[in-house]
Amino acid sequence: MKVGGTVRPPGDKSITHRALIVGALAHSRVTLRGALTALDARATAGALRRLGAEVGRLRPGTPVVVAGRRWQSPQRTLHCGNSGTTARLLLGAIAGQPIAVRLTGDASLRRRPMRRVTAPLRAMGAVIEEEAGDGLPLRIRGGRLRDFSYHTPVASAQLKTALLLAGITGGVKVTISEPIRSRDHTERLLAHLGFDLTVRGTTVTLAAPTGSWPRLRPFELDVPGDPSSAAFLVGAALLAERGELRVQGVGVNPTRTGYLEVLARMGASVERGAEGDAGGEPVADLVIRPAALRATEIAAQEIPSLIDEVPLLAVVASRAEGRTRFRSVGELRVKESDRLGLIAANLRALGVEADVEGDDLLVQGTDRPPRGGVTTAGDHRLTMAFAVLGTLAGARVELSETASAAISYPGFFEDLARIRVNA
Ligand code: S3P
Repeated sequence: MKVGGTVRPPGDKSITHRALIVGALAHSRVTLRGALTALDARATAGALRRLGAEVGRLRPGTPVVVAGRRWQSPQRTLHCGNSGTTARLLLGAIAGQPIAVRLTGDASLRRRPMRRVTAPLRAMGAVIEEEAGDGLPLRIRGGRLRDFSYHTPVASAQLKTALLLAGITGGVKVTISEPIRSRDHTERLLAHLGFDLTVRGTTVTLAAPTGSWPRLRPFELDVPGDPSSAAFLVGAALLAERGELRVQGVGVNPTRTGYLEVLARMGASVERGAEGDAGGEPVADLVIRPAALRATEIAAQEIPSLIDEVPLLAVVASRAEGRTRFRSVGELRVKESDRLGLIAANLRALGVEADVEGDDLLVQGTDRPPRGGVTTAGDHRLTMAFAVLGTLAGARVELSETASAAISYPGFFEDLARIRVNA
């Protein structure tokens, strides 16, 4: 195929969740431009409304207005849908408030681990009752918290953010050290809003909020395009035969762009243009030209900066010369699906040699057209990654469903079709 044109990916999912929640805690009017309006963001917006905040409708192209106030115990269970970020961040924000909440999610989310968040929140003073072991549903009663210092066993931005939000709502000091730095959108947002936050290496310290919090002056925030959504378009363009694609307004926070470094190592041509800043976050246009790619090795240290891009990188690696190894990607087993197992199984179903060795993923490149059926397990990132393979010449990729793309990228299939130029 030939690739061409210009696309703008949807708003950043991580930043949208954070901005909605912080907006719903602030007693002022917060206007978000470019926020994600997909299902995961709606799960957060819906939960915040049930907790008592005013959150305007999430419609593409329209700013979202949030007016926070004191949260209340909702009458019914809060449903977080498919969104792990919604569940984990809300647990943190609730922990410092005298309210009681029952949380649940869809079948995928109910299976995902929550103790990584609930154990430290308990140690801070929240009361949490599990109903089904390490997962949802569960009940949380927030209240008086104590200052807290924690070394996290996993590099997880959701966990880090939950503890920072607990510090904010509980009015306590929090220090968190991670084994490897995870995405830092919360740190940037809080610093942008004037919180006293210091970062040293992989340790973040938030001083107990004082002063005017939560009474803030009304503020506006621009949400960058989501680099994880852009990644699928970047991948499709690299695997095209010719042409050039511009992806506009993409967040290029270095804690998110590990995939661009890996692709560069593989021989990809991705240039940056129109560099700027949105709400304390760097943004740029990405200009991609197709390239012949070679295999690489992705180190454990790099994984947090590309954790959501492994499905797409694995698909791209299946077209590179040689064998690519992703080291220490065991965390993928507890994402929206068992991504590690399903990436390997689906690649094999399409005629690619792929294996899981301990916590490593191995993908052998081939130029045989991918043909076969793909089980997406309702996982948006698997759906979109394998749809990219379906754009190759001679490919016949049958996805078990396509609706899951709407979890993070509602217009994905339209955009994927639009960048293909018939010539
Ligand atoms: C996210 C952090 C990552 C990522 C998820 C969104 C966030 O999860 O996989 O899609 O917004 O903080 P972990 O922090 O659990 O690795």
